[in-house]
Amino acid sequence: MNSPVRGRFITLEGGEGTGKSTLQRALQGQLAEQGIKTLLTREPGGSPRAEAVRALVLNPPGDTSFSPLAEALLMNAARSDHLDQLIRPALAAGQWVICDRFSDSTRVYQGVTGAVSPDVLLDMERHVVADTRPDLTLILDAPVTLALERRAARGGKLDVFEARGLAFHEAVRAAFADIARHEPGRCTLIDASLPPADVAHLAWAAIAARFADVLARP
Ligand SMILES: Nc1ncnc2c1ncn2[C@@H]1O[C@H](COP(=O)(O)OP(=O)(O)O)[C@@H](O)[C@H]1O
Ligand SMILES: [Mg+2]
Repeated sequence: MNSPVRGRFITLEGGEGTGKSTLQRALQGQLAEQGIKTLLTREPGGSPRAEAVRALVLNPPGDTSFSPLAEALLMNAARSDHLDQLIRPALAAGQWVICDRFSDSTRVYQGVTGAVSPDVLLDMERHVVADTRPDLTLILDAPVTLALERRAARGGKLDVFEARGLAFHEAVRAAFADIARHEPGRCTLIDASLPPADVAHLAWAAIAARFADVLARP
């Protein structure tokens, strides 16, 4: 029996409240219209063990968070399990995977203030992600104040990253934009200040362009 054609791996990146989860749901609908089955997942987390690590890192016990290096190690441990348990099997079975945050978030959040050296982060990424690099990364970009207002309107308790100050979120935005600039072959920067339908439209245009070989023309 022939093995199925490998699915495509799409990651959604960007700061808090930029609309990653909203876009993820919209894209699943658009891909379903093309007869494509998708797995929606997220990081940190995805698999049961990685979700346990998520709870630990985002709401650490005690009054302080983990050091940035410890965070980076935990994020990568969770990612390794997530890739083995969920992402690689789904891609091998022909499913498309849309992951809300992935390795760019580790580069940005654990590296952004120079806390962990980019060399260390990239080395971990090479070992953990290996050849399961995203086929396409959509980076959602919006002014920090707008994104934080949206995040506040969504309600719920802030995690350790969300609770940080404006300067941190500005640095996060700039770091994501830098990744998009340096890796235009993989990444597309999307104006996430637009209404949800427009964001979804821009994202779909990027997907249609990248995967023109597999997607039916509208
Ligand atoms: N393009 C948009 N314009 C206005 N509001 C949005 C947009 N995208 C998402 N929202 C709203 O903003 C909040 C945060 O969106 P969400 O998708 O949860 O962001 P993220 O997953 O990136 O943190 C939600 O209440 C969502 O309904
Ligand atoms: Mg989200």
